[in-house]
Amino acid sequence: MKGIVLAGGNGTRLHPLTLSVSKQLMPIYDKPMIYYPLSTLIAAGIHEILIISTLEDLPLFERLLGDGSQWGCAFSYAEQAEPKGLAEAFIIGESFIGESSVALILGDNLFHGGKLSEQLAALDKIDGGHIFAYQVKDPERYGVVAFDTRNRIISLEEKPEQPKSSFAVPGIYFYDNTVVQKAKNLRPSKRGELEITDINKSYLAEQMLRLTPLEVGSAWLDTGTIESLMEASQYVQALQSRQGVLVGSPEVAAYTSKAISLEQLIEIANKMTYTPYGEAIKSLAMR
Ligand code: DAU
Repeated sequence: MKGIVLAGGNGTRLHPLTLSVSKQLMPIYDKPMIYYPLSTLIAAGIHEILIISTLEDLPLFERLLGDGSQWGCAFSYAEQAEPKGLAEAFIIGESFIGESSVALILGDNLFHGGKLSEQLAALDKIDGGHIFAYQVKDPERYGVVAFDTRNRIISLEEKPEQPKSSFAVPGIYFYDNTVVQKAKNLRPSKRGELEITDINKSYLAEQMLRLTPLEVGSAWLDTGTIESLMEASQYVQALQSRQGVLVGSPEVAAYTSKAISLEQLIEIANKMTYTPYGEAIKSLAMR
């Protein structure tokens, strides 16, 4: 299983914050936003990852994340010239994906808690597609899925005016290798984008789309607006200061998913500056 983090777009809803810096580099409390989705993939055992962003922002991501070897991973980078839709990630990533199956995560989605890492790691040998559902009070802002008591999908709609359920489809998706061809077959939607919901619909038409509702008590936050950006920071601050754990740390994810050894974690910790983040890594390494 390979992974893609989609971290492009214009970030217009966060102007003026994002006039000169990518949205996915904005801070969520004590770390850059992209650390969170990246850590979600790494914790799930996905260590070969393609980061897609704009031509202007790619050098900044490369400076931040490097080639991934510091975390036992292999990162590569690719450009999306214009924000033509989430599904374009599979066309841009075709040669990276090769013969593999692939997980896509949005660079502004933050997941935490529940048994998410285990749930994701179990999708390693996927046949078809797998999406998740999360109850929200404003489903019309998202892709919406309706399903029965046995989690069989009844309908999928992108930002419906009258949602058929209160379950949104969060920005993490798992697919077998046929996703590349499915993406190539798509036509742009009314809003001019290659829609991920249309990819999901084509798996559904083949009866090859599975769904797992995220556990009650787990968190999915998207950070598309200034309010949600602030809320995400407050959520992370509350958890970290209360529990003394780091949320969304690639170092922790790399260690827990065995991409790096304890010796490597200690080496990383020794190089860290005297910040709360560095101290938390040090205390994990010295435990
Ligand atoms: O957050 C989950 C939702 O993400 C899903 O429920 C929807 O089905 C899905 O369409 C998407 O909804 P949005 O339309 O709100 O996504 P947005 O345009 O905000 O893009 C999500 C992230 O992906 C954002 O950080 C920018 C980045 N992006 C977006 C597009 C369209 C790209 O990097 N390239 C793109 O072409």
